[in-house]
Amino acid sequence: MNAPELGLPMPVPAEGLPAGVRIHEVGARDGLQNEKATVPTAVKAEFIRRLAGTGLATVEATSFVHPKWVPQLADAEELYPQISGLPVSLPVLVPNERGLDRALALGARRVAVFASATESFAKANLNRTVDESLAMFEPVVSRAKASDVHVRGYLSMCFGDPWEGPVPVAQVVRVCRALLDLGCDELSLGDTIGVATPGQVTALLAALAEAGVPVSALGVHFHDTYGQALANTLAALQRGVTTVDASAGGLGGCPFAKSATGNLATEDLVWMLRGLGIDTGVDLDRLVATSVWMAAHLGRPSPSRTVRALSHQES
Ligand code: HMG
Ligand code: MG
Repeated sequence: MNAPELGLPMPVPAEGLPAGVRIHEVGARDGLQNEKATVPTAVKAEFIRRLAGTGLATVEATSFVHPKWVPQLADAEELYPQISGLPVSLPVLVPNERGLDRALALGARRVAVFASATESFAKANLNRTVDESLAMFEPVVSRAKASDVHVRGYLSMCFGDPWEGPVPVAQVVRVCRALLDLGCDELSLGDTIGVATPGQVTALLAALAEAGVPVSALGVHFHDTYGQALANTLAALQRGVTTVDASAGGLGGCPFAKSATGNLATEDLVWMLRGLGIDTGVDLDRLVATSVWMAAHLGRPSPSRTVRALSHQES
């Protein structure tokens, strides 16, 4: 067995895992939407440029939502043209046709609608019931598809909800099916408040498979409130999931669900995947340096264990 490179885990593959994983980086959107202070547009653009320079292929950029609902991302029109030439996919969130119009006008080629498995969060996040939100997404997805634009469907509160508690699997399966029936190309299963544990992830993925949802259409989106995000990710990989959302430095949360904290840190994910011999194409040193740079702008250290360990090693 080869000795590990310094600062990198020893690669020891485990059975039953996919050969490759696509990381969907959400730090610039999920991370920055939740910051108290609004980050200057030039800093966001530089953050996205640096993320693109780490080897990440997908860097979610911003949201075309109502600026009063998410003031932190109100500069989407100013930001997008500064990054649109980067050689990576730059998905953006669009809740409705107004958001889609704004995104298409700037040349976006990947958009994401965002549904909820629970009524409480649908109301808090979109001012709609679950079914009203699906009706709002219907023309968004069909118009995007007619323009050959890739559509991701987020589904929040797949495991637990701060108002309703544990979420029944059948409720999640129903909205997943509805999003696929609208024409979404892929789904991202959100543990918005980070309460899931691995058995729950396995059970949901089994129920979705039973309902005929192909695992190739599924990604996972874990927030790390209770430190379960990596364990939940491993459970998802064991069920054949190959798309994992993560946020550089562990930034993130949701302004409409107070108990949401940061996403799974991309660095922690890359460390685990490297250790499992699963290449992601991401340069971990560059990614850590990017998160350290962003943390300096935000005025607090990154919560990612890997960022902390590797940046201490460097100093
Ligand atoms: P509403 O108040 O019901 O809006 O909000 P409306 O449809 O009644 O429209 C009212 C006004 O807003 C109109 O203007 C519209 O034109 C305007 P007026 O005629 O009064 O002058 N408007 C817009 N303006 C700009 N861009 C738009 C837009 N839409 C309407 N897109 C709405 C409904 C959906 C707009 C609002 O609830 C909203 O923007 N919500 C966004 C919430 C959000 O961004 N949440 C965070 C992302 S989700 C998340 O973080 C979870 C995730 O990470 C996964 C996980 O962790 O689970 C994805
Ligand atoms: Mg999220």
